[in-house]
Amino acid sequence: MSSRVHLLLVLALVQASPTVLADDDAQNRLTWMLQCQGCHRADGTATGDEVPAIAGQVSRFLHVDGGREFLVRVPGVATAPLGDADLAALVNWMLAEFDPDHLPESFTPYEAAEVAALRTRPLGPEVVPERQRLMTQLKAISK
Ligand code: HEC
Repeated sequence: MSSRVHLLLVLALVQASPTVLADDDAQNRLTWMLQCQGCHRADGTATGDEVPAIAGQVSRFLHVDGGREFLVRVPGVATAPLGDADLAALVNWMLAEFDPDHLPESFTPYEAAEVAALRTRPLGPEVVPERQRLMTQLKAISK
């Protein structure tokens, strides 16, 4: 490839990328690929007993007390190397993308300030009993 053609290609890519990144859906999908799918897979399905399913499950937590907080305080989310606004957008996207059926009608999307506050209290080892507590509540209301 001549260096001139190469340069034109590079310029075309540089010009194209802001458009791609400005598309929220594409940006959130890319963030999922980079930060989350190593554990949660591209399609959000479970890995044995190790990693729970996001697909068809994750929005259920929004039906019980403490569930909304849990979804951000869970270590993989709270400690993700993302700004608060980007993390809020990612979580909103994840809920709609992987589990739209359980999304409550009254759901108010996460905003940066709420995410910022929740991230100051990331769950440590207590994530396991806290998750168990929420699952028990979900079972009780058959959600
Ligand atoms: C190192 C592996 C790993 C990475 C990376 C990871 N997670 Fe997780 N995630 C888990 C595990 C394991 C759990 C179960 C709770 C726990 O033990 O932390 C979980 C739980 C969750 C939950 C709560 C659902 C439930 O059923 O407990 C959400 C929501 C979530 N992850 C989203 C994300 C998002 C979004 C990202 C990327 C920013 C991410 N995770 C990155 C492993 C990971």
